[in-house]
Amino acid sequence: SLPCDIYGAAGTPCVAAHSTTRALYAAYNGPLYQVQRASDSARTTIGLLAAGGYANAAAQDSFCAGTTCIITEIYDQSPRHNDLTIEGPGGAGGQDTGVPADALPVTAGGHQVYGASFSGRMGYRDNTTSGVAVNGQPEGMYMITSGTHVNDRCCFDYGNAETNNLDTGNGHMDALNFGTECWFQPCNGTGPWVQADLENGLFQSSAGGSQNTANTGTKFPFVTALLKNNGQNFFALKDGNAQSGSLRTTYSGPEPTTGSGYAPMHQEGAIVLGTGGDNSNGSIGSFFEGVMTAGLPTDAADNAVQANVVSVGYGGPTGTTGSLTPGSEISVRATTACCTGDYLRHQNDSAVLSPVSSGSSALDKSDATWIVRKGLADASCVSFESRNYPGDFLRHFNFKVQRQPMDGSAAFRADATFCPVAGKNGQGTSFRSYNYPAKYLRHFNFSVYIADTSGTNAWDSATSYNDDTSWVAGQPWAP
Ligand code: AHR
Ligand code: AHR
Repeated sequence: SLPCDIYGAAGTPCVAAHSTTRALYAAYNGPLYQVQRASDSARTTIGLLAAGGYANAAAQDSFCAGTTCIITEIYDQSPRHNDLTIEGPGGAGGQDTGVPADALPVTAGGHQVYGASFSGRMGYRDNTTSGVAVNGQPEGMYMITSGTHVNDRCCFDYGNAETNNLDTGNGHMDALNFGTECWFQPCNGTGPWVQADLENGLFQSSAGGSQNTANTGTKFPFVTALLKNNGQNFFALKDGNAQSGSLRTTYSGPEPTTGSGYAPMHQEGAIVLGTGGDNSNGSIGSFFEGVMTAGLPTDAADNAVQANVVSVGYGGPTGTTGSLTPGSEISVRATTACCTGDYLRHQNDSAVLSPVSSGSSALDKSDATWIVRKGLADASCVSFESRNYPGDFLRHFNFKVQRQPMDGSAAFRADATFCPVAGKNGQGTSFRSYNYPAKYLRHFNFSVYIADTSGTNAWDSATSYNDDTSWVAGQPWAP
């Protein structure tokens, strides 16, 4: 059974089921989301490969070939048709935009699919829903998100919100929140935390944040975030690794006591994704799937849903390795005599050159593993997605190469696109910058740049240039 089959059988049916990656009912065979392309503004819906299966990402790739697409609608798979469209202006943020449709390529069920990657000022909403809890009714919700693409701005949310995009007071929201914004200082560790946005506060417990030492945050590349609320005198928060294991309950107890209005709750029944209730839209985040239920789900149903999510194998190995074909996982070795045991890896968000060997830590191996993608600006070239930071790509900025989340902009796409040519020293491959075609991917003093031989910057030195710009793409270090 899939998540909404599980919740339905447990007597708490889904009233919202949103995903860009897969069906959330075994019998569902309708559309998942709608994309719009930049070239002619045409739209199409992306559906499933089979009933109860995975997104037909190839249909998106072909519709968006040679141009770019954004996601304009995320359909509700539940019979309630609570579809999410791009969010309009609110009390704290102007009109939002849709997420780039190709920014978060992942594997699910062995298929290449796309998650939704939110930069600031991106969000979706439905202010006229059916069946969603209002005025103290019980509900539950979960979403699959990522612990590597977060910030401390308000508010990466999924769940129940106001119907007018304004902050209408305590208890008028009941939404999952995920990020590093600590509303009630201090919080435990650096996050990101799964929290409850109940309006005018991101709650980790009835008292707020610091008092809840159980909420240590969760940094997994794929995170299960879960909230349930009986609307009267109880809410609970759970988190988990969406790739393995079970859920952890970080809070289960009374409604907040930090102000009036939370017991009972006053939910309004709109659904928000990617912003706060008043469209506070400074936050970033990732979304793969999420549901909301009518009624308070049982813990047994939550556990069965987590088991189903784990079985999907989000983000697992693509099955192809060692080549520069899109979808292949690789590690990239330097060929300069100094450095033939050194690999291109990210560290503290920058691209650097580091020794990696079979004895290296799992983190070093993951940081040195890249998934080859079709070039974000030119499909005949390539881009490099981080293996352990889904949706983050290598891009240059001020000619220095770094790991950053894809924001959908033309500048990002160009900066993250590299065109492979024969290695300049006769070994492997050199990677020409798409938007600075005189410059190539180069290591210099163990940092990584796009460089030429002009001498303009220190890294544009002619010394060792052909060796420093020649790389061998081979088997990935990460398992
Ligand atoms: O509760 C946190 C945020 O506060 C809400 O999402 C928003 O509506 C308000 O600004
Ligand atoms: O890296 C060179 C340029 O620096 C990039 O194209 C741009 O994003 C930044 O201004």
